[in-house]
Amino acid sequence: MIVHGQVFRPEQLNGFITEDWSGVITYIIQNDSCEIISLNSLKENRGIGTALIHKVANEARKQNCRRLFLVTTNDNLHALGFYQRRGFELTAIRHGAVDEARKIKTGIPLIGMNGIPLRDEIELEILHP
Ligand SMILES: CC(C)(COP(=O)(O)OP(=O)(O)OC[C@H]1O[C@@H](n2cnc3c(N)ncnc32)[C@H](O)[C@@H]1OP(=O)(O)O)[C@@H](O)C(=O)NCCC(=O)NCCS
Repeated sequence: MIVHGQVFRPEQLNGFITEDWSGVITYIIQNDSCEIISLNSLKENRGIGTALIHKVANEARKQNCRRLFLVTTNDNLHALGFYQRRGFELTAIRHGAVDEARKIKTGIPLIGMNGIPLRDEIELEILHP
């Protein structure tokens, strides 16, 4: 994954996985910030995504993080709603960041979810998680 210009390999990151492997979340903690790098639920609308966010938020609290944040993309309307309903606030739009990432990872499609051109990164955060 390429996020804010950095390359991440989720399989090398810390994370949590459900017992049946239907949900997985990965994160990194640096200084006083915790960043969710990936979140995937294969069995949606059963509380898995929410539970995994809570696991990472607990970990962030334990490690005295001031901030829990993540980056999603402009086409992911579902994720934008999902995170905001869970207390995340929009903090930045990086216009064209996905276009930049596509120069390195050429497989990133031009059209993303919901038929929306996939172009920008949107950052969301919770302070004092
Ligand atoms: C975004 C994503 C992680 C959400 O995962 P999920 O497991 O569906 O999340 P939850 O089940 O906790 O919540 C989803 C909805 O189901 C509802 N729900 C939870 N448990 C439920 C239950 N037992 N019965 C009915 N609905 C339920 C929640 O209220 C929530 O709705 P809301 O957002 O309107 O409040 C998932 O859709 C996904 O993997 N998407 C593709 C990858 C992606 O976009 N990842 C994020 C990119 S940064």
